[in-house]
Amino acid sequence: MPARGQAKLKPLIRRAAIQKRVREVAKAITKDFKGERVHLIGVLKGACIFLSDLVREINLETSIDFIAVSSYGKGKDSTGQVRVLKDLDSSIDGLNVILVEDILDTGLTLNYLLRVIHQRKPKILRVAALLDKPSRRLRDVKADYIGFTIPNEFVVGYGLDYGERYRNLKDVCILSLPPE
Ligand code: IMP
Repeated sequence: MPARGQAKLKPLIRRAAIQKRVREVAKAITKDFKGERVHLIGVLKGACIFLSDLVREINLETSIDFIAVSSYGKGKDSTGQVRVLKDLDSSIDGLNVILVEDILDTGLTLNYLLRVIHQRKPKILRVAALLDKPSRRLRDVKADYIGFTIPNEFVVGYGLDYGERYRNLKDVCILSLPPE
């Protein structure tokens, strides 16, 4: 029994289901970019685990880079402010780029990132998001590859955090916090 005031975690998507879906997404990418190289850009820190699993299932020539943005403070609510904290290491001019996101929520982060990345002139720009919460959308942005569409719940695990905690959970779990 959790102590009074303790956060509760309820599994939403189990490890095995994630692994299966990641393989399916990788297969779709492999098919769509047959014979070509793909350059994956992971959005830190949340997408690092998804990208690590995804890239190993893609059967093409690949390269990876990371970008870090901040749109959330330490809590659950978006401030709507997006800043680049760590930029790309190398040029993406003429590359087939897949931007890899952990979760598509309001769409503010992706909307900003798409603008930033388009300016760098990739040949193709696609988006892969592990999770999609379409009910929360404030910007008209979509992912080309979606792992799972989920309800409007705050989730952690498989890279997603709450105040930097829970990224190491193998399942994606719903986090319920006690009332303040
Ligand atoms: P957006 O700009 O609202 O689409 O938010 C995108 C970012 O917010 C994601 O990349 C996550 O880092 C964070 N985020 C949104 N929803 C959740 C959630 O349910 N759990 C953990 N992080 C979230």
